[in-house]
Amino acid sequence: MQKVLITGAASGLGRELALRFAKEGADICIADINSEGSTETLKLVEKAGGKGWTAYLDVTSEDQWNALRADVEERWGGLDVLINNAGVATGDRIDAGEWAWWEWIIDINLKGVALGCRTFTPVMKKQNSGYIMNTASLAGLMILPSMASYNVTKAGVIALSETMYYELHAYNIKVTALCPGFFRTNLNKT
Ligand SMILES: NC(=O)c1ccc[n+]([C@@H]2O[C@H](COP(=O)([O-])OP(=O)(O)OC[C@H]3O[C@@H](n4cnc5c(N)ncnc54)[C@H](O)[C@@H]3O)[C@@H](O)[C@H]2O)c1
Repeated sequence: MQKVLITGAASGLGRELALRFAKEGADICIADINSEGSTETLKLVEKAGGKGWTAYLDVTSEDQWNALRADVEERWGGLDVLINNAGVATGDRIDAGEWAWWEWIIDINLKGVALGCRTFTPVMKKQNSGYIMNTASLAGLMILPSMASYNVTKAGVIALSETMYYELHAYNIKVTALCPGFFRTNLNKT
């Protein structure tokens, strides 16, 4: 049974990915700051034939990532698939909006992904296998105006993923950056 950890799985794309893995009969760790949404995803996962558990995780917290790694190792003894999907969005012009928005979105969308990768790469290296998928966006490749901080984080996730792709090849760890176009979720509500 594949052991899969998905961040941002309480809603939107993360939830859909969890349901897709559930259909393959995977065991899924649903990690999010939205505990209510995580519980709802778990119910749907079980209904779809998978199994799983929920974990409270703020992707910006190194301590929480370390605690989750300890949980995962105790429960599963390793990890097959890590999906760093949690993300938020901003819409701002370079000379408008709050500077704090830059700190906020970089912490979640970019540093949160890098932290997840740093936390679980040693686990995958040890087992000499694994797959990491980082949710970037088309916005990291084809730049739209009035979204500078968002675009920058997604371009950063693509650069991080490509770097890791080359770095981790020798350890039999595959790395992908997912770059979807626009689709309707709760992203504009945070
Ligand atoms: N919706 C789109 O059009 C679109 C397009 C391209 C890429 N994306 C990306 O897809 C990913 C998922 O977004 P979505 O559209 O499903 O949005 P969503 O808001 O429905 O889901 C995002 C999830 O991330 C969680 N989250 C937010 N901050 C967090 C944190 N600090 N720690 C842990 N979890 C946190 C939220 O609670 C939520 O469950 C994001 O990375 C987003 O940038 C979305």
